[in-house]
Amino acid sequence: MDVLHAIDSDAWAGPFASDEQGDAVGALEQGSILYFPHLNFTLRSGEERLLMPRVLDHGGKNVSLEPDGTLSHATLSGGTKDCLRGMMVRFSDAAAALVETLFPTYRGRVDLGPTSFRPVEIEGRKARPLADDTRLHVDAFPSVPMNGRRILRVFANVNPDGKARLWNVGEPFADMARNILPRAKPPIPGAAWFYAAVGATVGRRTPYDELMLGLHHGAKLDLAYQAKCPKTPIDFPPGAVWMCYTDQVVHATLKGQHALEQTFYVPVGAMADPSRSPLRVLERMTGRRLV
Ligand SMILES: [Fe+2]
Repeated sequence: MDVLHAIDSDAWAGPFASDEQGDAVGALEQGSILYFPHLNFTLRSGEERLLMPRVLDHGGKNVSLEPDGTLSHATLSGGTKDCLRGMMVRFSDAAAALVETLFPTYRGRVDLGPTSFRPVEIEGRKARPLADDTRLHVDAFPSVPMNGRRILRVFANVNPDGKARLWNVGEPFADMARNILPRAKPPIPGAAWFYAAVGATVGRRTPYDELMLGLHHGAKLDLAYQAKCPKTPIDFPPGAVWMCYTDQVVHATLKGQHALEQTFYVPVGAMADPSRSPLRVLERMTGRRLV
């Protein structure tokens, strides 16, 4: 499996040839990162003023725009806030067009998640170990159970100073799961019910969600694993766009400032090959149904 699968398009809404679409979905579901070196999310006049850390409030890791229009962790007001919202909506629409045209078999089955803007330099940023994205991990959300659904994310580096975004990509998902799961902390009995009852989670965590959180936490807290896991460093230059299943690709963001990110949720049943999903891999590994 290649870490990167490059697609030489400069148009967010394609068109893509059918063999290009087939190769793309195959690579994506195997755990490659789809890399679009020429796609380039172009900022509009006036949007460069948004590229500064103080756009983000102190409590947030990123400015977040929910599909219902709720904008959180932005310090701005008035016209500048509208400008930020406009940029994020435009990115969200572009990312949705890309997913729609590149993966015709996913069409109508993908749910839109939040849009993020990350204006703060990653390198040297202080974070609790579990919130430290410079450590290798797969994505899992403590408060939003996925119930087996996939986390698909589209990223764009919009840095105006020529600065790349540096990722490390770790080992294949199944290898990571085999390494981490035996040592992951088991969930507290009754915790999933309790968290849902007090509104700490949006619905109840399934055994799948517990295992995925176990992988996320287990990898981030295991410094020996962080040191010995094989890593491939990748520079994503300004103008680059990339996309992957972040619940499957073992990744860490080491450096970079000013990125946009769009999350999509994809049901396992929409995949060309559901057997490659973390859900099915973990079910084979544990010998039980997880959702
Ligand atoms: Fe992540």
